[in-house]
Amino acid sequence: MPARRRSPGVDPGFQTLAELEARAVARWSPALRGYVEGGAGEERTLSRNRTAFAEAVVYPRVLRGVASVDPRTTLLGRPVAVPFFVSPMAYHGAIHADGETAIAAAASEAGVLAAFGTLSTRSLEEIGRASGPGLRWFQLYHQADEAVERALLDRAAAAGFSAIAVTVDVPVLGVRDRQAQGGFAIDRSVPVGTARGVRPPARSPSDDHGVFRLPAEASATWEWLDRLRQLTRLPLVVKGILTPADARRCAEHGAQGIVVSNHGGRQLDGAPATLDVLPEIARAVGDRLEVYLDGGVRRGVDVLVALARGARAVGVGRPFLWALGVGGRSGVARYLTLLKLDLAAAMALTGCRTVAEITPDVSPLPR
Ligand code: LAC
Repeated sequence: MPARRRSPGVDPGFQTLAELEARAVARWSPALRGYVEGGAGEERTLSRNRTAFAEAVVYPRVLRGVASVDPRTTLLGRPVAVPFFVSPMAYHGAIHADGETAIAAAASEAGVLAAFGTLSTRSLEEIGRASGPGLRWFQLYHQADEAVERALLDRAAAAGFSAIAVTVDVPVLGVRDRQAQGGFAIDRSVPVGTARGVRPPARSPSDDHGVFRLPAEASATWEWLDRLRQLTRLPLVVKGILTPADARRCAEHGAQGIVVSNHGGRQLDGAPATLDVLPEIARAVGDRLEVYLDGGVRRGVDVLVALARGARAVGVGRPFLWALGVGGRSGVARYLTLLKLDLAAAMALTGCRTVAEITPDVSPLPR
């Protein structure tokens, strides 16, 4: 493997998330900033995700003799240090020369699950080596060519990925105004490291005499999940679910988990905040599958709120890219430490000694 240029060393000693974000985006080109920070359309959904958490009220419980808090849990039967994970995101290599391997190494060291995307800039094998004993999932976009899909699934299993996060909310990319303004082109700017022949999701439908056609990748149906069940023994976690009806269908089609997600507000502008639809979805599927959430999670208290309202764990996205940009592996390690401490403090202040004690009364729904 050719030696890779390492980004110049930057002190990753940021103290707060606001400082982290400011330092990260200050170093980025307008194109990269628009891509990472932006959402779809007018960013209604992007801001809803944050607003939902900002409006959630959490009740302190006092004098409960909290001598320690234990945030450990299991995800699909695998032990993890905390009920949050790194959401899959594209193109880490656009942010740091180490690409996905920096997050893989830091997450592994911290005992945190990390998910890596079809649009990774490093190969699955490189990510697997960097992650070592760490828990990792592979995020799959539907590929029109089944041979490409099969090769990805086989390589993911061989490289030690333990579940497939099947992303279902991108038949076509959302109309991303901020990204368009900045000029980041998803299909050309950065090489995709996962496999030859991988096709990124289409940017827009093409006008065929008034009928707007989508590429073959867009045409997946529920039957695709059944087919994936045949193609891999790894558990399937369907990512991009926002309604109880779709959540139930995931269970019927053999998924073992779902991620309640609106793709970080990057797909359908107008879609609900994930936190707002979580309780109804969690109720609809009961214990038939594990329910996770992402979108707008920034603080330990956000993790707590999502767990109180029905999630088993939550994904965190953009902050990991900020941390990657600011300090590579050590930046990510520092952010992981801060988020763990933030969660531990939130648990202590609410009198929750374990994740099992994060019950609905910690953050009840407004009446
Ligand atoms: C994104 C995709 C491609 O940019 O996951 O949101």
